[in-house]
Amino acid sequence: MSRFLAAAFLLLLAIPARAEDGYDLWLRYRPMEAAAQARYRPLATAIVSQGNSPSLNVAKSELIQGFSGLLGKPVGAGGVMDGAVVIGTPAGSPLIAGLQLPLGKLGREGYLIRSTVLSGHAVTVIAANSDIGVLYGSFAFLRQIQTRQPADHLDLANVPRIKLRLLNHWDNLDGTIERGYAGHSIFDWQKIPDYMDPRYTVMARANASVGINGISVNNVSADVWMLSSMYIDKLAALADVLRPYGIRVYVAARFSAPIELGKLKTADPADPTVAAWWKKEVDGIYRRIPDFGGFVVKANSEGQPGPRDYDRTQAEGANVIADALAPHGGIVFWRAFVYSEKDPTDRAKQAYNEFKPLDGKFRDNVFVQTKNGAIDFQPREPAHPLFGAMPKTNLALEVQLSKEYLGQTTHLVYLPVLFKEVLDWDTFAKGKGSTVTKVIDGSLEGHDQSAMVGVSNIGEDRNWTGAQFSQADWYGFGRLAWNPDLSADAIAREWLGMTFTIHPAFVNQTVPMMIASREVVVDYMTPLGLHHQMATGHHFGPGPWVSDLARPEWNPVYYNRADAKGLGFDRTPSGSDATSQYAPPVAKLFSGADIPDRYLLWFQHVAWDHKMKSGHTLWDELVVHYDAGIAAVGEMRKTWAAMKPYVDGERWSQTAAFLAIQQKEAQWWRDASIAYFETFSHMPMPAGHASPPHDLAYYEAIYFPYAPGRPDYTAAPFRNKPKDPSE
Ligand code: GCU
Repeated sequence: MSRFLAAAFLLLLAIPARAEDGYDLWLRYRPMEAAAQARYRPLATAIVSQGNSPSLNVAKSELIQGFSGLLGKPVGAGGVMDGAVVIGTPAGSPLIAGLQLPLGKLGREGYLIRSTVLSGHAVTVIAANSDIGVLYGSFAFLRQIQTRQPADHLDLANVPRIKLRLLNHWDNLDGTIERGYAGHSIFDWQKIPDYMDPRYTVMARANASVGINGISVNNVSADVWMLSSMYIDKLAALADVLRPYGIRVYVAARFSAPIELGKLKTADPADPTVAAWWKKEVDGIYRRIPDFGGFVVKANSEGQPGPRDYDRTQAEGANVIADALAPHGGIVFWRAFVYSEKDPTDRAKQAYNEFKPLDGKFRDNVFVQTKNGAIDFQPREPAHPLFGAMPKTNLALEVQLSKEYLGQTTHLVYLPVLFKEVLDWDTFAKGKGSTVTKVIDGSLEGHDQSAMVGVSNIGEDRNWTGAQFSQADWYGFGRLAWNPDLSADAIAREWLGMTFTIHPAFVNQTVPMMIASREVVVDYMTPLGLHHQMATGHHFGPGPWVSDLARPEWNPVYYNRADAKGLGFDRTPSGSDATSQYAPPVAKLFSGADIPDRYLLWFQHVAWDHKMKSGHTLWDELVVHYDAGIAAVGEMRKTWAAMKPYVDGERWSQTAAFLAIQQKEAQWWRDASIAYFETFSHMPMPAGHASPPHDLAYYEAIYFPYAPGRPDYTAAPFRNKPKDPSE
């Protein structure tokens, strides 16, 4: 070998095939192993696409990019030949029309992937009633190959179970994100529309690949400027980028906008000038964005204005806005997340108390958007009692992808397990089997509408979600919103295979780690039904002792109720009676002795020396759970260490480092919690479990003033705005 060649060879070795940093998400399309290429090459020889719509072009280019990358050879547009992939709708493609495919039941978004013969050639057809359906089918076909599933002899018809599948970005217009842990907002409003960051397109591809068909772009604690014509113009430019991907834009609307933008004296929903203002505003938006989705509204919640400021109901507030949207087909997502510092009722009961009597009073184009639990995105909550309790109302399920209360960026917690827990929850509203899935997909009460919403975890970090594994929560949310019956296990398998490698040694060890991770965080943070024990404001780290916040229900002591007798919130009939908001079989279970351990302290105040099902006292059981959580993080670290050979350096190292942080913080959670609770229990540590290394004062003094995720509410974007200058 000449010196030159040897040097070139060495250089080649030094350059990694392509650095991996997570930017490409699960759409990496890296060359597959040779055997897989040999298997799939004959099944993807060319793309045949008749018609020329933006969505069809996007589908075509995704297939070209995907096949060419995965198969390691250029695959382009072509004619019908063996192995061609023929895409389109009967309306746009004579080839598809000629096949007379059974597309009737697919609706607007469903697709059919079928292996068939066309003009004597074996082809794969991806057909739908709309170009968006074709795009979804194209992503599904790519997924078949990415996960090494059969791509021949196919006859896959697939229709989304839930019609509206939305992300809510909690992004402020100044670029900060409420509860965002992946850097600043990706929406650079200052530069829109003159510069449209290519990331918007990548985000749209990722969303479409899992079926997400709407995003609301701004924080639910809404800045009224978002409704100004200046920002609606910007939003229109973003809508143009997202439209080919089947994604509609929505806006979080501030209820008092008629005052702040319209200069009216009131935002009273019963005032005709207010109704007229909303109509004019909405008509204006639809002139700019004909397929605008609608509004998300957080009203009379955490300081936000709302109809109750005028002695009107939540339904009256929602309906005035819904009426403005209805002629355009727009939707209002009216949030049920309300609780009041003036109401001494158990916070867990307040939303139900306020909304349940309004069942049947909301317009058809209103969803009552309900968090998975009655408090606030805790590591574990029983399902919100509103599910099943408002049969005449469209209910949307809201879950949080950004892990505000689950360790935020650095804790590996695979959320689809949590999402499944609530989807599979039996409300017993119409007898056994009345799951939350059936409530929100509309089937339980025969609703035509259905929606599932995820609070976005996307930011401008290079890997989008701050941590590599948090991408799985975005991916899993979309997959479950499309089909709530998928298992968390199957989703993890898909995601790992597409995002890292399909190597069985990797997948088979990493899937159980992901599945277990949800219970692990519950164990080291809030075992046995404890909840809202997080530190003040940013919710980072433990603060079970906090008792000095302005509103009682913001204090962790409000929730843990630790005292000399025991621990936990009595929500049985002898306490706040929150149990009575559930259907009788559920209420009975939660108020009685058979309550599952995982909900025990949520619903009952339990003596420290109470005998648990395991035979331990409550105190011992608590300690055992905290320590099990820490031990399990240790196991996760070991598993991940063994995965090193299968994962590129950057993504492996970040995950390994984050797991080390997780272990440190799990220990902190355990030690701080035990140090606090032992001041009440006065019980010794169970044998084999160490005392916290420091006293309570040490943990109380730990202070993180600048933990991320909590923008400064006194800063300009949150103050009332002057008149819209562009009006
Ligand atoms: C939580 C969160 C807030 C958020 C609120 C909401 O309370 O901590 O930051 O604004 O939920 O869902 O509106």
